[in-house]
Amino acid sequence: MRLAIVGGSGVCDPSWLDGCREAEIKTPYGPAQLWTGRLAGEEVAFLARHGRGHTLPPHRINYRANVWALRSLGITRVMATSAVGSLHPSLKPGDAVLVDQFLDFTRQRPFTFFDAEGEVVHTDFTEPYCPEVRQAISLAADRLGMEIHRTGCYVCAEGPRYETPAEIRMFQSLGGDVVGMTGLPESVLAREAGLCYALVSTVTNFAAGMSPRPLSHAEVVEVMGRAFQGIRRLLTGALAELPQDRRCGCAGTGAQLTL
Ligand code: HPA
Repeated sequence: MRLAIVGGSGVCDPSWLDGCREAEIKTPYGPAQLWTGRLAGEEVAFLARHGRGHTLPPHRINYRANVWALRSLGITRVMATSAVGSLHPSLKPGDAVLVDQFLDFTRQRPFTFFDAEGEVVHTDFTEPYCPEVRQAISLAADRLGMEIHRTGCYVCAEGPRYETPAEIRMFQSLGGDVVGMTGLPESVLAREAGLCYALVSTVTNFAAGMSPRPLSHAEVVEVMGRAFQGIRRLLTGALAELPQDRRCGCAGTGAQLTL
């Protein structure tokens, strides 16, 4: 098994995998729940970030246990999904964004594996998301004739509240394109663990102050429900585009993380 899919809001139900089986993996950070099954004939792992019934809010997700569990299964690559608000009129509800940069505005979450005394590890984030996995997703979009945005800067807010219009104006002026609550520290931990990681964000709403309505989780769930089949086709297609061997640099830091 080489690939895991981490499903965000709207991508919580493991039954989209053939022959899915539940597994609980023990980690130093607590247990992680995931499923294994087949996608396009290949055995993959699936992790529902918010739990199967969407019961875990963003700040209570055990990101370290999740990433540790994937690494302990021998997974080398992760394709993740998330719902986001748009910071740009050109990024519309329903659009998919293959993000390539992030701004981290989380505040309270355990954010690293390297926190023991004497363990000084600084991880390179010049290229925050794996170029090979991003390329596979991009090629899949080409083959499927799917319009996706190939770049974008993901802003991670702490949540669980939505942002104020002033915060959104700040994120816009800093160069953010989309805003969500779960992309961090997941992508950082994946890189620390030496996993290749890419994130496809689906726009569910215009951000606070841009939307004519108050924001609601119901709106997010509704738009994700409509987007799900497209995400599924995109990720399934990307699986076929992944090269056998990893030639990116993502594995580098992982060597320093001993299981
Ligand atoms: N803000 C933060 N997270 C989100 C949003 C938003 O507008 N939409 C979906 N997830």
